Amino acid sequence: MKKQEYYSIGNIGQRLGIPPSTIRYWENVFQDLWKPERSKGGQRRYSKTDIDFLQKIIRLSRERTLESVKSILKQEKLQAEAETAFDWSGKVVLVTGGTGSFGTAFISRLLKEHDPEAVRIYSRDELKQYQLHQKLRDPRLRFLIGDVRDRERLIKATLGVDVIVHAAAMKQVPACEYNPFEAIKTNVLGAKNVIDAALINKVPKVIALSTDKAVNPANLYGATKLCSDKMFIHANVYSGKRPSRFACVRYGNVLASRGSVIPLFLEQRKTGSVTITDPKMTRFWLTLREATTLVMKALAFMQGGEIFVPRIPSMRLVDLATAIAPECRQKVVGIRPGEKIHEVLISEEEGRYTYHRDGIFMVLPHEKQHISGNHNGWKQVPGHFIYASNTNDRWLSSEDLRSLLEREGILN
Ligand SMILES: NC(=O)c1ccc[n+]([C@@H]2O[C@H](COP(=O)([O-])OP(=O)(O)OC[C@H]3O[C@@H](n4cnc5c(N)ncnc54)[C@H](OP(=O)(O)O)[C@@H]3O)[C@@H](O)[C@H]2O)c1
Repeated sequence: MKKQEYYSIGNIGQRLGIPPSTIRYWENVFQDLWKPERSKGGQRRYSKTDIDFLQKIIRLSRERTLESVKSILKQEKLQAEAETAFDWSGKVVLVTGGTGSFGTAFISRLLKEHDPEAVRIYSRDELKQYQLHQKLRDPRLRFLIGDVRDRERLIKATLGVDVIVHAAAMKQVPACEYNPFEAIKTNVLGAKNVIDAALINKVPKVIALSTDKAVNPANLYGATKLCSDKMFIHANVYSGKRPSRFACVRYGNVLASRGSVIPLFLEQRKTGSVTITDPKMTRFWLTLREATTLVMKALAFMQGGEIFVPRIPSMRLVDLATAIAPECRQKVVGIRPGEKIHEVLISEEEGRYTYHRDGIFMVLPHEKQHISGNHNGWKQVPGHFIYASNTNDRWLSSEDLRSLLEREGILN
């Protein structure tokens, strides 16, 4: 094995163009995050990793105070810790709705960055499964045709599974309104089937995806997801001393996911005008990558009974339209049935049971018997907390949105 190389403080000071006194000062400022080794005689010895860390400080501190550099680096460290805290190696993972926008991004990342034994994709349409197979071509993938409405099939599919990520859903607001019982069969009864199968097969960790529309729902889609959330949280009571634990993640609109407004604006911009439902409308926004990070973190943090919510920015719909189609006329067409002007991720009632840590909120159930394990390291949010898209303290301007869309390869 190659021997680790070390450098003296003078040596790396010269290399990075900073005086040793600055390095010593930074060592003090960043002591929670970074501690170079010392030789037996007490001399500092800097490794390649230490040099990388110093280079990062130099780069970040060009435009920021040391306090904000510290907070960025702390965030990165905690994110890395949380992601690696859940050990995927040798795990059998089943993703319902694995061919959807979230499922595809999650599975691709899981296979690339971790070492699961097998990933089972559970969904109905064989064409989407074939396309995903062609795209990923990974021997750890298993493609299972099945409907979440089919309890027997789910029981077979979840045999020997360690983790279930439940992403399958009907999620188009108008489709759910027009086909109410279909939405209930997939989103509510389907959720119950996933829970039953997990309990029967003693699946240790189950995480269900939820949405801001489940908070004070204004449409059937949100109402079905609220029922689903309640069932997943309550499932911990059914589980009792059995090993299965259930939690949810809840987030807002995902950048350019199927059926989102972005593909619509991209299409409309060819016509010279884009439609805005209401100029006051605001939404939470996150990228698919952030959604996958949230689920990975949630799996690491979950004890059972939590709803994990990411701390994410808001945007105004008009700013998004400007970012995508700056040259287009914006035509106001009025709010659609079941739509809200603003979305809420954590209601005032839930705010009383909300904690935060490292860019994530955690809502605990009101009933103590639904809570499993302990939640050390989480801090309660201040009183009267509510997390809504219009009162958020983080915003994306139309310039931010434009660069985000360019970075994601959506605008070119
Ligand atoms: N996209 C967003 O902006 C957003 C925001 C917040 C929360 N969420 C939640 O995140 C989850 C994933 O969303 P997504 O954007 O990835 O959705 P998506 O792209 O529409 O994918 C849905 C997936 O579910 C499968 N599916 C649908 N009905 C099914 C059924 N009855 N049985 C089995 N599989 C079924 C679909 O495949 P088949 O059609 O082949 O079965 C597909 O794989 C959903 O629970 C959604 O509520 C999404």
